[in-house]
Amino acid sequence: MYQNFQAELSWATLHMPRTRKALEALPDLGGVKLACNMHLDLKMAPLVEGLLERGCNIFLTTCNPTTVQNEVVDYLVSKGAEAHAWRDMSDEAWSDSFDKALAWEPTHLCEMGADLTTRLHQNLAQGVPVPDIVAGLEATGSGINRLNGMAPRYPIFNWDDLPVKEGLHNRHMVGLSAWQTFFQTTHLTLHEKVVVVIGYGLVGQGVAASAKAFGAQVQVAEVDPARALQAKYDGWPVVELAEAVKTADVVATATGAYGVIGVQHFDAMKDGTFILNVGHVAQEIDVPYLKQNAVESLPMPYVNAYQINGKTIFLLADGSMFNLTAGYGDSINAFDVTLAVMAAGVGHIVEHGSQSKSGLYLLPENAWKQAL
Ligand SMILES: NC(=O)c1ccc[n+]([C@@H]2O[C@H](COP(=O)([O-])OP(=O)(O)OC[C@H]3O[C@@H](n4cnc5c(N)ncnc54)[C@H](O)[C@@H]3O)[C@@H](O)[C@H]2O)c1
Repeated sequence: MYQNFQAELSWATLHMPRTRKALEALPDLGGVKLACNMHLDLKMAPLVEGLLERGCNIFLTTCNPTTVQNEVVDYLVSKGAEAHAWRDMSDEAWSDSFDKALAWEPTHLCEMGADLTTRLHQNLAQGVPVPDIVAGLEATGSGINRLNGMAPRYPIFNWDDLPVKEGLHNRHMVGLSAWQTFFQTTHLTLHEKVVVVIGYGLVGQGVAASAKAFGAQVQVAEVDPARALQAKYDGWPVVELAEAVKTADVVATATGAYGVIGVQHFDAMKDGTFILNVGHVAQEIDVPYLKQNAVESLPMPYVNAYQINGKTIFLLADGSMFNLTAGYGDSINAFDVTLAVMAAGVGHIVEHGSQSKSGLYLLPENAWKQAL
């Protein structure tokens, strides 16, 4: 993916002044064993490298095998991290990676999607020995949803819901980078296209606004009546998904939920419909159904064409997070804010994690505001 990995990494680091400052403010991290389950793309490297330089021991796993950049993993391992992650690793190897990370006996966790915490608690329920975690961080809405149904045995600090995370990254960056990736991948624009955005959380709001800015006719499908009302107040036609898919040119899922687009929607779609997902899980779309029941070809990189019932449906990046799998994700300047908050969060769980009781907390303001 990268023309010149080292040059691009230097470029990213150069344009991340907040992250550099937040890393400098960290205490000595010697003795800390941080298991990081995250997207492993280039923009993550300045943070991980900086933590290693502060003496932190790091074990890397991924929250999504389709977004791993192997050059990034190799580079961070060369800098001292341990890792069990590679692009498109099998489900079995991915599952093994969580066990390996826990067997490494981390003291702290830094997660995107709560996979390690989920596995730890499953092990605990089965009487399998688990490491003593002092505290953890969680960065995603999908992870927070999983944790909400759990009583974690250590404090976990949610930073997805911070205004500087969801209000910037989720709201502004995902839509922008998803459509930018759409243009690069398909060589098409959104002009004259009807785009149906499914889910009107901050991610869906940004996907909708960005699509309009790029010339699309946007509609929103949302199951939560409060969010649907918000979409109406924002000026979007709020539609029933079952009806809207009949005329959509592009369907974009942004929910984090499972089974949002399935066979009844594929059946109703017109010839040539594009489907993409920016939510955390590829299972928003019933990709296995397409793979089992349609003739598949790959007319362009990251564009899977499925011929089914006399029409073609184009699925982008196999339904995995499109902006990160086929594209570069956030701009470096926006991700600088995200990484700086993440670095500050690591500082918080190391310095103060042991003082909090088990449970799920919002990362306190005094932990991250100075990083801005
Ligand atoms: N691609 C990226 O770079 C990126 C970045 C940040 C977050 N995310 C992910 O994007 C997803 C959305 O994030 P968010 O912060 O907006 O979450 P959110 O939970 O605030 O919003 C999701 C919305 O989807 C709606 N929804 C759920 N099921 C639906 C269905 N079947 N039909 C219609 N609407 C449905 C919910 O009611 C909710 O309003 C999460 O999975 C998150 O992890 C992706």
